Amino acid sequence: MKSFILIKKKIKKFSKTIEVSGDKSISIRCVLLASQAIGTSKIYNILESDDVLNSLKSIKKLGINYKKFKNYYKIDGFGLNGYDTNTKKILYAGNSGTLARLILGLLVDTKKSVSITGDRSLSNRDFSRVTEPLKNFGVLISTNKSKLPVKITGSTFLRPINYFERLGSAQCKSAIIFAALKTPGITKIKAKKSRNHTELLLKSLNLPIKVISKNKLDFIEIKGQHNFKGFKYDVPGDISSASFFLVLALLSNKSKLIIRKVNVNKSRIGIINILNKMNAKITVKKNKKYKGELISDILVKSKNNLRGINCPADLNSSAIDEFLIIFLVAAKAKGISTFRNLGELNKKESPRLNIGISFLKKIGIKVTRNKNDIKIYGNPSLKLEGNYFVKNFKKDHRVFMMSCIAALTLGGNWKIYDKDSVNSSFPDFIMLLRKLGANIN
Ligand code: S3P
Repeated sequence: MKSFILIKKKIKKFSKTIEVSGDKSISIRCVLLASQAIGTSKIYNILESDDVLNSLKSIKKLGINYKKFKNYYKIDGFGLNGYDTNTKKILYAGNSGTLARLILGLLVDTKKSVSITGDRSLSNRDFSRVTEPLKNFGVLISTNKSKLPVKITGSTFLRPINYFERLGSAQCKSAIIFAALKTPGITKIKAKKSRNHTELLLKSLNLPIKVISKNKLDFIEIKGQHNFKGFKYDVPGDISSASFFLVLALLSNKSKLIIRKVNVNKSRIGIINILNKMNAKITVKKNKKYKGELISDILVKSKNNLRGINCPADLNSSAIDEFLIIFLVAAKAKGISTFRNLGELNKKESPRLNIGISFLKKIGIKVTRNKNDIKIYGNPSLKLEGNYFVKNFKKDHRVFMMSCIAALTLGGNWKIYDKDSVNSSFPDFIMLLRKLGANIN
């Protein structure tokens, strides 16, 4: 099977309504929490991507059964002590940092060791951000120089911890919250703000978690060892997947797009705030609350008078997965865009800051860099001709998807490799592009 796609034509004008697949962060959290519930959980509209399927396979290896039905997955948990860890286990997290890091939090009480492995990209990412705090609970953890494989052996004498999470990493915060669920007493986390789906899920399950926000920090307290019953959850659309379509419509000619039922939780809508500061005029309507999350339809129209942004660094965390596609908008905006403090971007599935900069240079955009700050010199009349090849991007799904949007809005003949990378987060990506009229071979 060929592993690349060819795009030779810009997308023609379109006016459509679409829905994107379920939120990846919430799908993985639902699978992991359901695996610790007592009894049956039913998760509707779960994202059926590799990251989530690897989550399901991992809980299965720990003795938790699941079954797929027409529009939901049923997961049968045995409570907080329900994993079978009487023998050593090896779990495979594939490409998913979220799965690998969060599940470690649920393995603090294993009897025998459990090892976490992953694909090449994940095996190059830092795990000390979760293993260091988790060690304080009293468990044994070994790593390969802070990388995978990570091996954890749980303890029967867990003790609660106080931890200051300074990176603004929801994965790190959530791993600690998961470990706290199993630990007697009160675990306290002071955390730089990041996505808060774990906290909202625990609240929706009536678990004893308190969150107080002060300035840019969240003060979180979790009282552990409270079992909870199986639950139902209907996963909303993923704003990170929607963002590629927002930008497609924004940068196309005379187009209009409505994306239905997207999660617009405040901790995730950095992209909308940033693009609107660039004059994108994206509107969010019909807000509906669901278990603490906020679900809306998003309306976007083509815009040819976008302007550069001096992006406040406190929007970084709420747009962390969207910077590649935001850079593309900055390339087409009038004036200079400045982004600061993007060090965390280089710690993702690929070094996205480096890759984003080389991509922009390749399409003729001037970029300057000072450590983790960059300036993008936009060119509203940017039009491409000639051949473009996108490869060697460590199979990062978001690099692939951003490149497709560039090809469909800027012109030129494109060959984009590693099309299977989209299976990590958004297997329906190409099908939805075609639905809007994209010509992809
Ligand atoms: C995620 C958190 C973010 C994000 C990742 C998913 C999550 O990572 O980049 O794609 O589901 O918690 P960090 O928490 O490491 O910033």
